[in-house]
Amino acid sequence: MRKVLFSDLQPGYVIAEDVTKNSIILLSEGTVLTAHDIQQLKNYSIKMVYVYDEDDFQMDKDIKIIFKEIPPVVEKQKYESWTNQFEKVKDITKLNENSEELNTLVKDIYSTFVEEENIVLNLFHAIGDEALTAHSINTAIISSIISVNLKMPYVFTFQLLKASLLHDIGYSFLGERVINDYEDLENKTVKSHLISGYKAMKNFKDNISKEAIDAILEHHERYDGKGIFMRLSGERINPLVRILQVGDAYDSMIESGKNPYEAISFLLKQSGKMFDPYYVSTFFSITGLYPTGTTVLLNNNKKAIVVKKGRATVFPVVEMDGERIETGSETGIFIKEVLKGE
Ligand SMILES: [Fe+2]
Ligand SMILES: [Fe+2]
Repeated sequence: MRKVLFSDLQPGYVIAEDVTKNSIILLSEGTVLTAHDIQQLKNYSIKMVYVYDEDDFQMDKDIKIIFKEIPPVVEKQKYESWTNQFEKVKDITKLNENSEELNTLVKDIYSTFVEEENIVLNLFHAIGDEALTAHSINTAIISSIISVNLKMPYVFTFQLLKASLLHDIGYSFLGERVINDYEDLENKTVKSHLISGYKAMKNFKDNISKEAIDAILEHHERYDGKGIFMRLSGERINPLVRILQVGDAYDSMIESGKNPYEAISFLLKQSGKMFDPYYVSTFFSITGLYPTGTTVLLNNNKKAIVVKKGRATVFPVVEMDGERIETGSETGIFIKEVLKGE
């Protein structure tokens, strides 16, 4: 095995020793690293890890290799083309000429999820400059899923997706970004991204509706009225905002290293406080209590990963030793605990 510095890590390396932080296992031995894992290690400030090298891969050595075999929410190629489209939109100096690009992107995201019944919410994340783009697209994906589930009219969803894509654009003017901006309302950067985004987008009111532009300024208002600036509460907050907040907060939690179970638990805990309970429960009915990607310990003491929602919100389908099992009374397999930080 060899020691690799964080900056030299590549997706595909196999972890040779459990990576832990404060006695929490972040990655188990044998895990094949993904770009998302590398982002998580960054969030936990892990400086180096041990990976297997070619000397380790000998016939006489007992090496286990664990793939997290969950398909991504959309094909990688499609996601990459959305990333490229949004990178163009983000270049504000060209937004007038690129407003068609924004419309095409919105239509494409909408049409991808409009007829999709079995959604696997395995989102992509990126590091560095593209992180904001990934977060914006993920927020739009979740907004789209919620809106389609509620059978909202297309014109509404269209504005919702624009607002979701643009909600954090203000960070791109600040050169600084707070990933989990729901928990730190006093932070100056958090306050500034609302104003910079709103002021910049006001220049494009011919191409982007007033509602979507207002949503940028409003997206950290809270359902209980304790948000930033306007202290709007309940139904006085634009529904575009109340829906996009659910996906925004969920993706921010995942990006900052929380597992899907912790992210959905945060939404449930803040339902009626930060968020509109109606939209939280809609999202919950889609993901279940253990969203895709949650690593769990089963009642047979085996580790498994949630691959999709089961028939009931509390009994997901898990993958254990390469086999798919629906948890619940029929199989007698239950989730004993959620393994943190994975
Ligand atoms: Fe924000
Ligand atoms: Fe955000």
